[in-house]
Amino acid sequence: MTDINSIRAQFPHTKKSIYFNVASAGPLSMESFNILDKHYKICLDARIGSQVEVFDALKNIRRSGKKLFGCRAGEIGFGFNTTFGINLAAFGLPLKKGDEVLLSDVEFPANVYPWLELRNRGVKIKFAKSRNGFLDVDAFEQAITRRTKVIATSFVQFFNGQKIDLKALGEVCKKRNIFFVVDAMQGAGCEPINVRKWNIDIATAGGQKWLLSPQGSGIFYVSDETKKILKAPWRSWLGVDWKCDWTNLNDFSRKFESSAQQYEMGTYPAGHVLAFDHALSCITKLGISNIQKHNHRLIDRLIEYLKSEPTWQIVSALEPKQRSSILSFTTDALPIKSIHRHLLKNRIVTALREGAIRVSIHLYNDESDIDQLISCLRQAVRESK
Ligand SMILES: Cc1ncc(COP(=O)(O)O)c(C=O)c1O
Repeated sequence: MTDINSIRAQFPHTKKSIYFNVASAGPLSMESFNILDKHYKICLDARIGSQVEVFDALKNIRRSGKKLFGCRAGEIGFGFNTTFGINLAAFGLPLKKGDEVLLSDVEFPANVYPWLELRNRGVKIKFAKSRNGFLDVDAFEQAITRRTKVIATSFVQFFNGQKIDLKALGEVCKKRNIFFVVDAMQGAGCEPINVRKWNIDIATAGGQKWLLSPQGSGIFYVSDETKKILKAPWRSWLGVDWKCDWTNLNDFSRKFESSAQQYEMGTYPAGHVLAFDHALSCITKLGISNIQKHNHRLIDRLIEYLKSEPTWQIVSALEPKQRSSILSFTTDALPIKSIHRHLLKNRIVTALREGAIRVSIHLYNDESDIDQLISCLRQAVRESK
């Protein structure tokens, strides 16, 4: 996977359906499947050895994660999903009774439920108010009080694809001495992110969507400065370095890694780690800016049609700074559920989210996919008249 124009051939699903639903679940490439297949054949034959290759893959993941997030490799850890990093933040940051955590009222629940649990410790959870589903930095600023200790937000909103201005919000957090936690799930792999430049303390993303990896893989970032303050809410025997020598395990004197590895959790899902390493390295080699350009160019084509047909209303932000690889639209003229079903019958997979059709576009999509979607939407409009 090195050239974005030849990538399609490496995703067998493109021969069966038009897939615009990576924001729900990312497809695997043939190569990732082969890696998993090879690994599980080894398991079937009971040929699992010291697993040096898994630990090498973890090292690569940290290197790729550094490119993906714009940080140091020692600030990247392997998590099983987005939730892993959110829990690390919620239960590891120094929060006490009376402190406030600021979320928004349009967050994906993965970035809400772990924080709500802190209410049991007397921490107050507040929600910045969105307008028509959109958030701006002002909405967060207005809700900040002197007790606000954490702001936690998604990079890209799951239902309308709005990209939050993390740079501006990071500056607010830095000025007010507030921890800044980012759920990067819907942006990591398709929108450039720079955690260090944007003053982010903790970021987290599952691998199962835009990073085209198996469910049960993911990465998190903890800045070196935050590591000094973050108290690990759990400890793992693999948080210390055994150098892949498993012959003297009753040595309890080892020190925890100073890298983000110290926050990881027990035995790794080996097959997932290997496939995740492969996909992540392909995506970072392709370059997130190149992927973004490709995705946005295709979305432009769809926007042009949607704007030309009064039946549809785009519910995503169209300002360049707020756009992502997700575009959602709705209609008052037709039942939206029937549009979703009509597309599915024509093998076009989208998602229905908060009353709108959500189209999520990634590197294996091309112009012909968009044209088929448009032609199907035209048909629905024609039939309704
Ligand atoms: C913004 C966002 N965060 C997180 C998740 C999922 O969290 P996890 O990877 O922990 O299942 C999703 C979607 O499933 C999402 O849209």
